[in-house]
Parts: sequence; C-alpha cells; structure tokens
Amino acid sequence: MVQPLRLGLAGLGTVGIGVVKIVQRHADLMTMRTGRPVVITAVSARSKGKDRGVDLSAYAWEDDPVALARRDDIDVFVEVMGGHDGAAKDATEAAIAAGKDVVTANKALLAHHGQALAEAAEAAGRVIRFEAAVAGGIPVIKSLTEGLAGNQIKRVMGVMNGTCNYILTRMQNAGLPYETVFEEARQLGYLEADPNLDVGGIDAGHKLSLLASIAFGTKVAFDHVELEGIGNVSIEDIHLADEMGYHIKLLGVAQMSGRGLEQRMTPCLVPADSPFGQLQGGTNMVMLEGDSVGQIVLRGPGAGEGPTASAVMSDVIDIARGLRLPTFGCPATQLADVCPAKSATPAPYYMRATLLDKPGALAKIATCLGDAGISIDQMRQINQQDEQDDKALVLIVTHKAAPADVAHAMSQFAATGVLVGAPVAIRIEEI
Ligand SMILES: NC(=O)c1ccc[n+]([C@@H]2O[C@H](COP(=O)([O-])OP(=O)(O)OC[C@H]3O[C@@H](n4cnc5c(N)ncnc54)[C@H](OP(=O)(O)O)[C@@H]3O)[C@@H](O)[C@H]2O)c1
Repeated sequence: MVQPLRLGLAGLGTVGIGVVKIVQRHADLMTMRTGRPVVITAVSARSKGKDRGVDLSAYAWEDDPVALARRDDIDVFVEVMGGHDGAAKDATEAAIAAGKDVVTANKALLAHHGQALAEAAEAAGRVIRFEAAVAGGIPVIKSLTEGLAGNQIKRVMGVMNGTCNYILTRMQNAGLPYETVFEEARQLGYLEADPNLDVGGIDAGHKLSLLASIAFGTKVAFDHVELEGIGNVSIEDIHLADEMGYHIKLLGVAQMSGRGLEQRMTPCLVPADSPFGQLQGGTNMVMLEGDSVGQIVLRGPGAGEGPTASAVMSDVIDIARGLRLPTFGCPATQLADVCPAKSATPAPYYMRATLLDKPGALAKIATCLGDAGISIDQMRQINQQDEQDDKALVLIVTHKAAPADVAHAMSQFAATGVLVGAPVAIRIEEI
C-alpha cells in the first residue's frame, strides 16, 4: 500500500493556514501529482484556542514545536513560525536529529544558521527545502538550483521586499514623503513587528544571501551583505531621479568578480523603463543571469497566504515525489568560504548637492570629482531663491566610479565652502 507523506506543521499564522488550506483543498491533486497522499498529522502554534478559520480537528496538537518535530508519525517538519533563534532553530535541529526532512519559509533562520543546518541535514541524509523563504510565491530557488543548473551564474538581482517597493512606488506616485507612507504601510499591516527588518533592508538581505550561496557555491554569508535601508530616500531624490529617467528601488545585487563576492542590498537608481524600474507596489522581481541562458526575469507576489503557501507546498511535493537535492544546490561540505569583495564594482552615480549660487561654485565641485578620478556624464543646475541666499541645486550623473572614490569626493565637497546641507550620492545599477 502507498504510504502517505505525513507533515508536522509548526506555525498556524498567515503561511501555516495557507498550507492547511492547500492540503485540504487539493488532496486529490497532490495524490495524482506525487502518487501518494500528502496529509497533515500534527500541528503546533502558541495558542491552542485561537480561531484560525479552518478546521484543525483532525490534527494532533503539540504545544511544543520541538515535540512536534520529534513525533514518530511525521515524515516532514514544516517550519512556518519565523525567527532565527529560539523555537524555529531548536525545532528544526530536533527534526533533523529525529530523521525528518524539513521545509521552511524562514529566511532569517537560514541566513544565520543555514550552513550548520544544511551540514547536519545532509550528514543525516535529510533535505531542507526553502522555496518560500525567498520572494514568496516566485519559484526562484527552483529556477536557480534546477532550471539554471547548467549555467555559471554571473549575477543575481532582485527587488525582494514588497513593503519597501510599496513605500517607494507610493512615494513616487502620490508625491508623499517617506514618513507619511511609512505610517500608511504600518496601518495597512504591511510592516513586520520590527519595521527595520523591512525598511532597514535586513529581510531582503537575508534573501539575497541565500540566493548568493546557491548561485556561487559559497557558504551563506549574510554578515557580508552591504545593507542600507530606504529610510534616507527622499521624495526630492525620487522626483529628480524620475526627471532624469530613473526610478529608485531597494535592489539586491550579488555577483562574483575578481574582487570576490559582492552582495549589496541598497537603494539604487535603475532605468525607469527597465523591468525593475517598472515594478509597482508589493510585487517582487528577481533577475538571474547565466553564461548560457543570458538574463531571465521572474516577477510575482513576494508574500501573502496563498503565494507563500504555494511555495511551501512545491517543496513538500518535491519531497513526496522523491526529489532530494542538497540544501544550497551542492553538498554543504563543498560550499566555499566566502571571500567578500573589498570594494563594489564601479558604477555610475547620481549626485545631488545644494550650493551657494556664487561664481565658481560649480567648478569647485567639479574639481573635487576630478581630483577623485571621477568624470561627469551629465550635470544640471537648478537655481533656487530663498530669503537669505541664492542657492543652486546641482544634479550630476557620473561615469563609472569606484564607491571609495565617490565617498572621497563627497567628503571633499564640504571643504569647498560652497556646500549647503549634506550632499547625496546613489549608485545607478546597470541592468
Ligand atoms: N507572511 C508572509 O507573506 C511570508 C512570506 C514569506 C515568508 N514568510 C515566513 O514564514 C514564516 C511565518 O510567517 P507568518 O507570516 O505566517 O507568521 P505569523 O502569521 O506571525 O505566524 C507565526 C505562527 O507561528 C506560531 N509561533 C510563533 N512562535 C511559536 C512558538 N514559539 N511555538 C509555537 N508556535 C509559534 C504562531 O502561533 P500563534 O498563532 O498561536 O501566535 C503563529 O501561528 C516566517 O519565517 C516568515 O518570515 C512569511
């Protein structure tokens, strides 16, 4: 008789309930696709009595997710609780030790402990799958691990935090400042309990570090991701960049160069008419670039009950079908230590500075750039008048420049005596 695949589901929140709904709604479909029934045996969450809008009466209950992970009547431990330490880590380790396969949506857990967990799982002959952890419903892990396995990966880029993309596109479309839209997002429930996970770029940085590991065969190195959130993106820069044909996105880029592994999750200008430039609202987008395939672009919902549960179930179905792959695409013990790039690949930069409108002011700024070895591609001056002084807003687009040279030039601007306020420099990412 065909044995069912038995799931232990830890977490009955947004994602967990989505998983319950798919298992209940698509029982026949899954049996047809995998050749065996997929069933939930037992569940765990913090509060047993909570009405979760689905019928859980057929499932055994465990208060403790570690006890759930160790149950003899489960084959796969599905971890959808969240958090990189505590219950999620303890229960995942317990599941592996008890000989269970693991499916998780938890990017924070894997960004911090992925290497150790992968080594433990592979030593025990178990698999850890995490399609839902990166870009929600978009099958990006599968694309990278399987679909593009014949390619040397050149670069991975992504807009992978829907909340940040919502905030930036709303600022642009409605002309509202960051603080106003941040508050809107909070009221709409788009922000994590700790908003810095979203707007600080941490959540998206976790995801980028997982993609980089698969793409380049390196150990997950979240600590080496250059992180900058969107809190300093001004509505002024959004408008000015738009006038120059660019949109501002929180963009992740991972690439291996002669300098080492570059991983950045920072606000960038992208061409307004590029796929990333066109991306609106909470949608996610990932671009994968391989030496044979060229560029492929995946776009879709990066969060929410249905999309995330869809990704969790794709992992469950793979396990039911007998597909067993190493966590990060090659055996964990063979993943290379990361040699982080000391400096990022040179890129054009957008700069904005306000200057006293005095003769020679612009020349002084141009000299700072020239002294730093940076050449100017475009320069625009917009005169402004206020009660005290005439001022000039200067916009510059540079040719490709090294980030250290840009930082040096910016530091020299102050010494010119013509600068008003702090200048801004934002990388322009070439796609
Ligand atoms: N939501 C999304 O769109 C999305 C997208 C991609 C990835 N993810 C990832 O999926 C995971 C779950 O996200 P979510 O949005 O579903 O979270 P959620 O709605 O906050 O649900 C978390 C669930 O875990 C349970 N839980 C938390 N700590 C527990 C503990 N110590 N013991 C037992 N149960 C515990 C909670 O129990 P109670 O309900 O009783 O409090 C709740 O049912 C996270 O890793 C998240 O990053 C989420």
